[in-house]
Amino acid sequence: MTDPHKSDVLIIGSGAAGLTAALNLADRFCVTVLAKGGLAEGSTAWAQGGIAAVLEPGDTFDSHIEDTMIAGAGLNDRKTVEFVVENAPRAIERLIELGVPFNKEGGDLHLTREGGHSHRRIVHVNDATGWAVQEALLHAAQAHDNITLVPDMVVVDLATSKHEQRYSGAGNVWGVYAVNRATGRVELFTANATILATGGAGRTYLFSTAPRGATGDGIAMAWRAGCRISNMEMMQFHPTCLYNLDVKNFLITEAVRGEGGQLKIPETGYRFMPDFDPRAELAPRDIVARAIDHEIKRLGLDYVHLDISHMGAEFVTHHFPTIYEKLKGLGIDMTREPIPVVPAQHYTCGGIVIDLDGRTDLPHLYAAGECTESGLHGANRLASNSLLECFVFGEACARHINTHWDDLPPPPPIRPWDESRVADSDEEVVIKQNWTEIRRFMWNYVGIVRTTKRLERAAHRIKLLTGEVEDYYGHFRVTPDLIELRNLLQTSDLIVRSALHRHESRGLHYTLDYPETLPVAVDTVLVP
Ligand code: FAD
Ligand code: SIN
Repeated sequence: MTDPHKSDVLIIGSGAAGLTAALNLADRFCVTVLAKGGLAEGSTAWAQGGIAAVLEPGDTFDSHIEDTMIAGAGLNDRKTVEFVVENAPRAIERLIELGVPFNKEGGDLHLTREGGHSHRRIVHVNDATGWAVQEALLHAAQAHDNITLVPDMVVVDLATSKHEQRYSGAGNVWGVYAVNRATGRVELFTANATILATGGAGRTYLFSTAPRGATGDGIAMAWRAGCRISNMEMMQFHPTCLYNLDVKNFLITEAVRGEGGQLKIPETGYRFMPDFDPRAELAPRDIVARAIDHEIKRLGLDYVHLDISHMGAEFVTHHFPTIYEKLKGLGIDMTREPIPVVPAQHYTCGGIVIDLDGRTDLPHLYAAGECTESGLHGANRLASNSLLECFVFGEACARHINTHWDDLPPPPPIRPWDESRVADSDEEVVIKQNWTEIRRFMWNYVGIVRTTKRLERAAHRIKLLTGEVEDYYGHFRVTPDLIELRNLLQTSDLIVRSALHRHESRGLHYTLDYPETLPVAVDTVLVP
């Protein structure tokens, strides 16, 4: 077995983006994939609804492109949208080759529908698509001799030219420093090329459908190393997260609305979405989430109802077996009664700026998936375009590395991590306290409806906490929790700064102080 500490290509993240890149590189290169916990603990395994692609007669690339641009409120980069949409059918074919058992009907793929799509174009594996995709990718990666998968390795920072033993100042990225959870020690991993595929930053918010590890690590470390970060104010809130005081982040897939589910006021059963948008429950997510938020605040509710019971028990259990079982365990029979739901943070549309080859601003550093801002999603991601982006850009990074390998020389000697001046922490409570505080003020001040005053309050708190966390980081040995806290805070700072920068309401960024949409759509780009 090759030493994972020295590989040709190093990939941070074992979700859809990271494993797609790995599988497209491994026939020629030695690839190491690091994950900060278990190999299937990212968002990919949690995806429910499916993957969007133009797959049936009557649907067209132009229609998928238009739907993506409309959902994205014109902030999308049209070239990127075309690139992803046109590569979608091939991406689905490859997943089928890897053994993903997409649902079929009468011999053809069954396509479901989600908000913002003007056609049925979502391939899926029941209501647990992500799990099937993660399993197939992981199985293929585990079977490949050239791929070494390393779980429980928490990356602290990128190793750059600053860390060369003979400092060159060239700005190259040569790998990463990561804490081994088993030993608590920081290890150096180097490679000719590094790909960040670290997922989103959903856990910056108190309520999120994303898994525990979605703390924006890749975005924060790319920013610290010198990459531009774009459109971080575009945080997507999913309209329908289960309202349950014990189970805080269980998603009720958009496909429930796609297959006929209706949103209603609990007491009266009044169906309110037609009052907000002619597309009713199938309007893009930002519109549905804001409508629910409006009704909850106007009527002082804890939640609204999502009702699909009128479609009949057989239909519901056939289409949504996972959700049906989960809810049944919580005492809700969705074939007979409505489901209580609230909006929750769901997806990070902004991130590390990349081009169509997945290249970042720094030489030798690529990025793919939810940690990036490729130009696909604009001001609001269209449902089921996210996994698709992971496959298309995972492959794009691999293609560029393959064709430009001669421009990617091996790393020079890099300094090991210096722990000589730090001690073990004696105040773990600081981490817990700050973690909770950040998520709470982000939810209250930087949520679905914003104001400049609330954003400024958040900015003020971030400034206070940054001093405290950096002081702590400088004095104590790094631990996984401390790494995540630092990244959570840094990502929150990027979100708030971007939100304060945008003097209009567009897509997911809605502020009472600037309710109009400006005539020209401009990205928010933060430069380190
Ligand atoms: P992830 O799958 O999140 O993987 C991130 C990886 O990075 C993990 O392996 C993690 O361990 C690793 N990592 C992170 N930080 C570090 C670090 N510091 N050190 C080492 N490793 C690190 N999208 C769709 O298109 N269709 C859907 O139906 C859909 N449903 C969804 C349902 C839910 C509940 C959620 C939360 C999201 C859903 N999404 C859906 C969005 C989609 O799942 C994600 O955007 C996508 O899976 C992200 O994949 P990724 O490869 O970028 O990152
Ligand atoms: C869902 O199933 O509603 C999530 C789909 C997505 O996030 O794209």
